[in-house]
Amino acid sequence: MCGIVGYIGTKKASPILINGLLKLEYRGYDSSGISTMENGYISNMKDKGRVKNLYDLPGINDLNGTIGIAHTRWATHGKPCKENSHPHMDNSNTFSVVHNGIIENYVELKQFLLDNGYHFLSETDTEIIPNLIHYYYTKNSENTDRLLNSVYLACKDLKGSYAIEVLCKEEPDYMIVARKDSPLVIGVGEQENYVCSDIPAVLSYTKNFYLLNDGDFAKLSKDDVSFYDNNLSPITKELKNIDWDVSSCEKDGYEDFMLKEIYEQPKSVRETIGSRLKKDEKINFDDIGFSKEVLQKFNRIYLVACGTAMHAGLAVKPLLEKLCHITTIVDIASEFRYREPLIDENTLCIYISQSGETADTIAALKLAKSKGATTIAVSNVIGSSITREADYTIYTHAGPEIAVASTKAYTSQITLLTLLALYFAEVLESVPVDKINNIKEELLLLPEKLTEVLKDSDRIKDFAHKVYTEKDVFFLGRGTDYTVAMEASLKLKEISYIHSEAYASGELKHGPIALIENGITVIGILTDPFLVEKSVSNLQEVITRGAKTLIITNQELNTSSYDEVINIPNTNPLISPILSIIPLQLFSYYISKEKGLDVDKPRNLAKSVTVE
Ligand code: M6R
Repeated sequence: MCGIVGYIGTKKASPILINGLLKLEYRGYDSSGISTMENGYISNMKDKGRVKNLYDLPGINDLNGTIGIAHTRWATHGKPCKENSHPHMDNSNTFSVVHNGIIENYVELKQFLLDNGYHFLSETDTEIIPNLIHYYYTKNSENTDRLLNSVYLACKDLKGSYAIEVLCKEEPDYMIVARKDSPLVIGVGEQENYVCSDIPAVLSYTKNFYLLNDGDFAKLSKDDVSFYDNNLSPITKELKNIDWDVSSCEKDGYEDFMLKEIYEQPKSVRETIGSRLKKDEKINFDDIGFSKEVLQKFNRIYLVACGTAMHAGLAVKPLLEKLCHITTIVDIASEFRYREPLIDENTLCIYISQSGETADTIAALKLAKSKGATTIAVSNVIGSSITREADYTIYTHAGPEIAVASTKAYTSQITLLTLLALYFAEVLESVPVDKINNIKEELLLLPEKLTEVLKDSDRIKDFAHKVYTEKDVFFLGRGTDYTVAMEASLKLKEISYIHSEAYASGELKHGPIALIENGITVIGILTDPFLVEKSVSNLQEVITRGAKTLIITNQELNTSSYDEVINIPNTNPLISPILSIIPLQLFSYYISKEKGLDVDKPRNLAKSVTVE
């Protein structure tokens, strides 16, 4: 949720840190701050609002230290204001700390520190950390590795989640970092090292990274990184090369990341298909390699995720059930983890997460593992936390998704899970080969068809212009179209702040139709030939009551009664969400632009939700 950057080397740290924060701002943007160290003194500068506010702070250009830490915040404890911004310092101004995560026992720890004479300047849970480190540091004067030890002792007291960076003016050549349930990686350069919560922050400086695991500590100097486990025993780590190119984290001429990512979908879906599906060949999931006996053992599949990733799960549930004949349940991770779900060694649990860092999804995965289920992570981020917990990981390979509103990750998740369902069906021999082959052929045509859908963007823009002042919008669909309605409604809420609802068309007359009145906007999705007539009748019911309608369809319809019709290419109804969501992503985007909002950084949201 918050973003962290750190630098230690031979260059001036502040421009590197601020540049990193700008790349990470999508993670949180309530406030930001920076600490650098020079001549035995820590300078700490911070402000409310966007990272660009840091630029205007008097004296920011005079920070010449070659070691520093920085943070962009998404508020949890305490309102967004300068006092609550990170970095936080201890009472003696010896330590500076940035923190991602939530300290659950901070009230108790704060009381302990108050009782020991400390005082606090902010409302945050984070401010206890530098003071707790100070507390142990003063008691630890004999220890040869005093800073590392004090951070370790302080972390032992913390309950909850954290990724922290610590500077100490008494030890100006080192920085200590630690993580538990919040992401943190270390980038390695020539005579310099970087720290960040998310790889794009420093990708323009290095492609070589160490990934920290939960409970790990690291001590960084400019020439070295030493790693320790949760008992402070030294450990070694493998350096990983991350082959994302820098330009894929830039806007590339598009006005916003969201628009760029919408337009990238022909490419990202092609990348997701990759070498898993080739004409006239069986689907390749050698990395999973389930035998028929293993698959036959599963009597239930759970698809668990949050937000858009959960909607991707809803879109593929019918595929898994129809092709593999295994009962499939889609669950919201934050509900699943507390529901005491019925799981055993015959359950297959699939966890979908673009970032691979969503706290609820990771906790839900750990729960299933503890009950003996087989777990698969579907993620877009190589080496992310979820991939290190799951029994198996499959990557969407959609490329970095920066905009808070998820677009290309969704279509890639559906594509990858469709491939997985087809693979299961091929191994299980659960349906006739023709049925499988038809979906395979249609999958290979998707990149082309996506390009075609994107050509209609001007008409969507015009419709957005007509309705952007609306207060409520309804999305209707049946079957997989209903799952698209849910995703479209989430997208609209997120970036346009317009209230919207998604309903299964048949459910309308059981209550929500009471809300339909003259002029209200209703968007219908009609792509399933078996359900189209029923959906048309439901749309007539709202038109009769004065609704303005936009229709997304690949069916031949009498379109005269609708205000706008967007025709999309035909495909197998089981994979139609990959095409039908595109006009609706564009619709939300253009509404947000019409309203003059910040598309990529909608209010109150952050890209990855690493707290509960
Ligand atoms: O990184 P994840 O896929 O686990 O994220 C899950 C949700 O937080 C995410 O999809 C969220 O709903 C998006 N902002 C939707 O656009």
